Amino acid sequence: MATSFDAWHFARHDLAQRYIDAFQAGLSSARALFARRRMGKTEFLLKDLLPQSEQAGFTCVYVNLWECRTAPLAGIAEAVAQQLAARRNPLARLVGKGPQVRGVKLTVLGAGVDARLDDPDADPTLAQVWQRIDAHGHPILLMIDEAQVLASAEHLGVASALRGGLDVRKDKVKVIFTGSSEHTLRGMFGKSSQPFYNWAPVEPFPLLDNLFVSHMVQRANAILRPELALPDERAQQAFITLKSSPEVFRRFLDAYLLNPFAGVEVAVERARESTFSDDGFAAIWDSLLPMDRLVLQFVAAGRKGITGKPALREFGAALGIGVAQLHAVNNSLARLMDLKRQILVNVERGEYQFEDLHFQEWVLLEHPPA
Ligand SMILES: Nc1ncnc2c1ncn2[C@@H]1O[C@H](COP(=O)(O)OP(=O)(O)O)[C@@H](O)[C@H]1O
Ligand SMILES: [Mg+2]
Repeated sequence: MATSFDAWHFARHDLAQRYIDAFQAGLSSARALFARRRMGKTEFLLKDLLPQSEQAGFTCVYVNLWECRTAPLAGIAEAVAQQLAARRNPLARLVGKGPQVRGVKLTVLGAGVDARLDDPDADPTLAQVWQRIDAHGHPILLMIDEAQVLASAEHLGVASALRGGLDVRKDKVKVIFTGSSEHTLRGMFGKSSQPFYNWAPVEPFPLLDNLFVSHMVQRANAILRPELALPDERAQQAFITLKSSPEVFRRFLDAYLLNPFAGVEVAVERARESTFSDDGFAAIWDSLLPMDRLVLQFVAAGRKGITGKPALREFGAALGIGVAQLHAVNNSLARLMDLKRQILVNVERGEYQFEDLHFQEWVLLEHPPA
């Protein structure tokens, strides 16, 4: 493509400003935003909210917890160290090493951090994080992408220590959490047993709409010969067909620009195929147990009552074992909802959904339920 990647970014100034205004007004100090995968959350954080809030006087720290899901605390610490140090704050360079750490840890504890930190063997990492933050001279916007990682049981300690430190720094540190599962985020912020209980309002991330599509079409048409121009209406339809995902829509545009003669339908098909293969859906499928596949087919078909008698009988028949056991289905659901894989999410009691609509589509196409 002749233009650079950034030229294709559809800026969302107003949306970014809304969050910044709310933080600056002091009404809220945290928010949790959810939208399915590939809907533009990360791009919004990095390309809209980050530069705009820096202009508004915040120093931003972005961390994608999915990328450090085995050690989220280390990931956060590294992001804080890197991104705050980058501001050439003279104090920030002085802190973080050496014997001060212990003393600082005591101050942090005094400020009410979860008692888990009281462990003499506790990792000093978090103390360093607070130290760097406290030494930094500007308000901070902490962007925690893929925040659902903190909802897993193994990271409960990290989550509560983090919350404790953030609690006492609400004026200085504003936090945006994002995640792709509404259910998980609601659990994380809505269950009284969770460290972040009531800590941030959970709301949908506003999705890209027809304005985004028109913007992209204009860009594309600027480099296409007039007789091959992509009609806005066809592009809007393609966007809907591709489940309103900006990512898959851009693949569609790529395909169209590469070969406009083939037409819109072919480009839509290419976009789908490339999404399916890039995401390795076939490899995921191959790695699944037979019961997991049956469960996915059931959910993909939009059926309800997965733990009911008829479903158990059906699964049993497919596996050639009479009637399937309830616990086998429950185990399978647990595997598929595991935060490390996140194939399914639990939307309501007994109701499940694909986390990625494109995987659902792939299952229906490639492995339609019998
Ligand atoms: N505002 C935008 N303008 C142009 N393309 C976008 C925009 N937002 C998202 N995209 C495209 O969609 C892709 C996926 O977006 P991303 O932010 O990674 O989704 P999410 O974080 O919700 O999974 C991006 O890599 C980009 O190609
Ligand atoms: Mg993302």
